Amino acid sequence: MQACYLPVPSWRPEEQGPGRLATVSVEREKQVAAEAAAQLVEDGMAVGLGTGSTVAYMLPALARRQLSIRCVATSPHTEKAARDLGLDIEPLGDIDHLDVTIDGADQVAPDGWLVKGGGAAHTREKIVAALARSFIVIVDSTKPVSALHAPIPVELLEFGLQATMRRIEPATLRDMPKSPDGGIIADYQGAVGDPADLAAWLSATPGLVEHGLFPPALVAMVLIGRGESVEQRVLR
Ligand code: 5RP
Repeated sequence: MQACYLPVPSWRPEEQGPGRLATVSVEREKQVAAEAAAQLVEDGMAVGLGTGSTVAYMLPALARRQLSIRCVATSPHTEKAARDLGLDIEPLGDIDHLDVTIDGADQVAPDGWLVKGGGAAHTREKIVAALARSFIVIVDSTKPVSALHAPIPVELLEFGLQATMRRIEPATLRDMPKSPDGGIIADYQGAVGDPADLAAWLSATPGLVEHGLFPPALVAMVLIGRGESVEQRVLR
């Protein structure tokens, strides 16, 4: 991956309100990465909107630009937040391609493999990422890792759940509601090794709807907030 740094507008500590410590935090890193990504969207584009706290910073930055764009959301939460900001959200069925999808990630490997699904939206997120000409990932500096590791989120069919869980042992069920598509959310807790091998094995497991391993071939660019700067890693 090629890496370079993007200039971002300076941030004044006093904007955070009186009495607040002027620390450059992980939240600020999410924000600078998210705002840099929002700048890459152009008028007339069809845009996929991911899910999570980093995307939550991207939505107002995108809405402020008042572009004429059509958007698809990867979760009911993102859909509501985007609509509340005045963004035009359309059903995925009404859009045959996306120019860009912008989403967060839980882990980013040096070769561009991702783990996603901390927010349990990875099934829809993978569909929307794969539809985009350019998939841009936005993360703070805690997300790059030297090698991917568990937990790896998975979405499972309810039918045969116990059998599927046994097949992917060690795995844990998440204590949370079903996905918007009726799936059960769990996490594979075993060794990752080669992500391509694990991704292929999980994909071939009966009853497993989708897993949170995203291959580098899906990813165009990773924007990493580092303090007040944004590191840009271009994959293709
Ligand atoms: C949701 C995701 C999120 O993009 C991922 O968990 C990162 O979230 P955050 O930006 O809150 O750290 O994959 O399913």
